[in-house]
Amino acid sequence: MNNNVFRNLSYGVYIVSCYDGEKYTGCTANSIMQVTSSNPTIAVSINHDNYTNECIKKTGKFAVSILSEKSNPLSIGTFGFRSGKDIFKFSNIPFVMYDDLPVIKDSCAYLICEVIDKIEASTHTLFLAKITNGDILNTENPMTYSYYHNVIKGKSPKTAPTYIPE
Ligand SMILES: Cc1cc2nc3c(=O)[nH]c(=O)nc-3n(C[C@H](O)[C@H](O)[C@H](O)COP(=O)(O)O)c2cc1C
Repeated sequence: MNNNVFRNLSYGVYIVSCYDGEKYTGCTANSIMQVTSSNPTIAVSINHDNYTNECIKKTGKFAVSILSEKSNPLSIGTFGFRSGKDIFKFSNIPFVMYDDLPVIKDSCAYLICEVIDKIEASTHTLFLAKITNGDILNTENPMTYSYYHNVIKGKSPKTAPTYIPE
């Protein structure tokens, strides 16, 4: 099979944030989709090795910061290439609290989510979550995964579901 087919699937770029019992943490994620708008529900795929996976399973809650083309790419790097096991990721990233969860300040919108189900795939957990709150923060264009690769020239680590070896 030609793995480059996956490059033709469209995604956004998000920060999934949660609480680990002592501090706020989270990771960069592109694999989020809306499942339905009646009882608004999304699905997000998080690698078994990511600390965020463990924290979401523990608390059953997370926020999604929807990054825009104007969002500082520093948050993508901080949340996407380091682990919350080792560092406090929010120390250099401005954030605002909504419903007790941190949202990246320069994102264009956010969602507050409560896990209702999960499916274990080989490397990732697919969390199904109902949206309990959310709002638009500014009118910038949401960042697409393609914009991240082609304009920002960003990379993705092996833990991203969409990782394709160069
Ligand atoms: C652009 C980008 C997209 C990513 N998408 C995902 C994703 O959808 N799911 C996932 O589990 N990891 C994804 N990652 C990888 C995690 O963000 C990364 O493994 C992170 O260091 C995990 O942090 P944690 O151990 O604190 O949870 C992505 C990383 C980048 C840079």
